[in-house]
Amino acid sequence: MIRTPIALVPYIALATVIFIAVLWQAGDQLTSREVTSGTPDVGGPFALTDQTGAQRSDADFRGRYMLIYFGYTYCPDVCPLSLGVMNDALDKMGPKGKAVTPIFITVDPARDTPAVLKTYVAAFGKNWIGLTGNAKAIETVTKEYKVYYKRQPLKDGGYAMDHSSTIYLMGPDGRFVTHYDESIGPDALAEDLKKRI
Ligand code: NI
Repeated sequence: MIRTPIALVPYIALATVIFIAVLWQAGDQLTSREVTSGTPDVGGPFALTDQTGAQRSDADFRGRYMLIYFGYTYCPDVCPLSLGVMNDALDKMGPKGKAVTPIFITVDPARDTPAVLKTYVAAFGKNWIGLTGNAKAIETVTKEYKVYYKRQPLKDGGYAMDHSSTIYLMGPDGRFVTHYDESIGPDALAEDLKKRI
């Protein structure tokens, strides 16, 4: 039987603590490396209705880039601003812009019918696709894209929709490439898109 001399106990305890701390840190680094190196799990299949009433799925856009924004047509500020930035950026890209389909997906399907979307997206440009669907289909696609939205009652009896504001770039294989904030502006957005396409 080996007896540990009592004087060594504090050193053994200290060595044990250091050993655990080193393992702990190594574990953290491993975890963060996994998170930063992989493609974020954003996007996925959808089955929605476009502004002409046609059924559209994510598979319809394979081979093309999708520039997607989620919002609602009654939005007073950030939606028109974001769609304007997206459209201006695609215009500035010249021929390369033709490889990108700009898509607006509503988070307010109760009011944003295909007819409402048709008028709305036409105001931004002729290549736009506006998508709506039943509540379940919108819930599915917003979960896939990690979009936040919440109905906010207004004093006049109507409602607004709180929603996250992110522009998503999806690749020709349907997978997430990157995302932007509308504050990027059309020039910087066009520059970044040109580098990637
Ligand atoms: Ni909005």
